[in-house]
Amino acid sequence: MADLKVEICGLRFKSPILAAAGPPTWNGKAMVACAQGGAGGIVAKTISTTTAQVPEPCMAQFGKASMLNTELWSELPPEQFIEKEYAIAKETGLPLIISLGYTADQIAKLAPKVKPFADALELSTHYIGEDPRPMIEAIQAAKAAVQVPIFVKLSPLGREMKAAAQAAQEAGADGIVAINSFGPCLAIDPETGLPLMGSEEGYGWLSGQALKPLALRCVFDVARTVDIPVFGCGGISRGTDAIEMFMVGASAVQLCTAAILRGPAVFGKIAREMEVWLDSHGYESVNEVKGLTLRRIKERKFRTTHLPPLVDPDLCNGCRLCEISCVYDAINIIDEKAQVDEDLCYGCGLCVTRCPTRALSMPQ
Ligand SMILES: Cc1cc2nc3c(=O)[nH]c(=O)nc-3n(C[C@H](O)[C@H](O)[C@H](O)COP(=O)(O)O)c2cc1C
Repeated sequence: MADLKVEICGLRFKSPILAAAGPPTWNGKAMVACAQGGAGGIVAKTISTTTAQVPEPCMAQFGKASMLNTELWSELPPEQFIEKEYAIAKETGLPLIISLGYTADQIAKLAPKVKPFADALELSTHYIGEDPRPMIEAIQAAKAAVQVPIFVKLSPLGREMKAAAQAAQEAGADGIVAINSFGPCLAIDPETGLPLMGSEEGYGWLSGQALKPLALRCVFDVARTVDIPVFGCGGISRGTDAIEMFMVGASAVQLCTAAILRGPAVFGKIAREMEVWLDSHGYESVNEVKGLTLRRIKERKFRTTHLPPLVDPDLCNGCRLCEISCVYDAINIIDEKAQVDEDLCYGCGLCVTRCPTRALSMPQ
């Protein structure tokens, strides 16, 4: 089996699939369940100096694997984590990353108290706005308080990810986590006309599958900007999602929504899917795929010419998905096999991404 072990800032993870800060890590018992489910490391639910007053309802699923939420940070008093929950999580033996929010003052108060339990700190920047100054001050406060690695979690709030990551690195961050949930967004129940979320305006924050393309882009941008390691987070629900995160430059991944919707066993399941994919593609270690996209994209030629897809008739099962969505009428199923009219084809590539058997491919 391919090797999934990764080492980041001296922390050894037996699997690169970590539990992200959120409901799956809301207390000690839940963190133990993540470890039993196969997580390689744990990021505890964010705490701050005060408890959060969370508008209810605060979580809703939409689509197959996406969510909105209005959870803030922990509703438990920080003392409860310090006196009880972190100690329970430490019994798992996994690296424990303690998530703190938000301002320099708050970090300066909390960091010394969580120090005995923290293998690293993760600073959430979710509520400190676009200006990098408060983030920089928070990093400096954390650095002054503890010696462990300081990871900074970036939110995709329209924030320029490259500039934010660069500023975090310059301020002394040891790693970047990208990304937090995206918003504000809105989902309503058509039967009542009311928003699903209980926040004042009904807004919520997007996570899960719908977030993945944004998360991949952010990790890609951050990884080619900074030299420090990047944790990819956002929409990971399968082994190949995690592999893609590595390809755009992540050194490990975190997930939250998949563990909420499918339970903590998802950590081990995704790790096994990664192993199977790596084995079947001839890789011995997950580290071999790290940064692949960053390297390959440099070799790719930009073109505006229309190249029709190639069809492998042995793989085509005549399902018609390509034919239905070809707005140019360039694909017909003849004798249960796709045939492409090269004069009509625009080379858009949609059919290739819809084909369930990989019978269609773009010429390289
Ligand atoms: C209900 C919920 C609560 C969350 N709470 C936190 C939190 O306390 N701190 C934090 O940094 N991120 C929090 N997140 C964000 C997740 O850690 C993660 O960054 C985001 O959901 C994207 O990953 P995913 O698509 O795997 O969920 C929360 C996400 C959800 C869905």
